[in-house]
Amino acid sequence: SPASYDFIVPLHMRILMVCLGNICRSPLADGLLRHLVQKNGLEWVVDSAGTANYHIGSPPDERMVATAKKHGVSLSSLKARQFTPADFTQFDRIYVMDRSNYKNVLHHAKTASERDKVHFLLDHLYPNLQKEVPDPYYGSQEGFDEVFYLVEKAVNQLLKDLSHG
Ligand code: 4NP
Repeated sequence: SPASYDFIVPLHMRILMVCLGNICRSPLADGLLRHLVQKNGLEWVVDSAGTANYHIGSPPDERMVATAKKHGVSLSSLKARQFTPADFTQFDRIYVMDRSNYKNVLHHAKTASERDKVHFLLDHLYPNLQKEVPDPYYGSQEGFDEVFYLVEKAVNQLLKDLSHG
């Protein structure tokens, strides 16, 4: 009888996380997803960017780095860059953290297929509600911990949702 083979098809996805500065929320989402993708043996491309240019070339905020590290997630390889319209070609899905990011990213979309790539990260927890990841930048350490737990939940759900899709 003919030999049978099980082909394991790697799930290839290219995911971009976007916030304003690319030093707090989107690097966290980026680092958490990279961590999860590696743990699950997937070959996804994961990156992050900011809509603003203030922090280009900077490492993530040290408070965010410390918060992530406390939970075993390293953000140390990340460096801020600005969102560019070329990201619509390089990525399959673009996740924004808040409505301002959403508006700024959509402003650069030239086609319906580009617009369709843009999603709110928290839609994986609260579908279609356009809920926002709060910006912890001007707040306290508690704000960073809250953002960590929220983004961790959303990224875990993202992986589940896309894996069954
Ligand atoms: P992020 O937070 O968008 O989560 O990286 C911010 C970081 C810096 C600034 C604003 C938000 N800023 O105005 O410098």
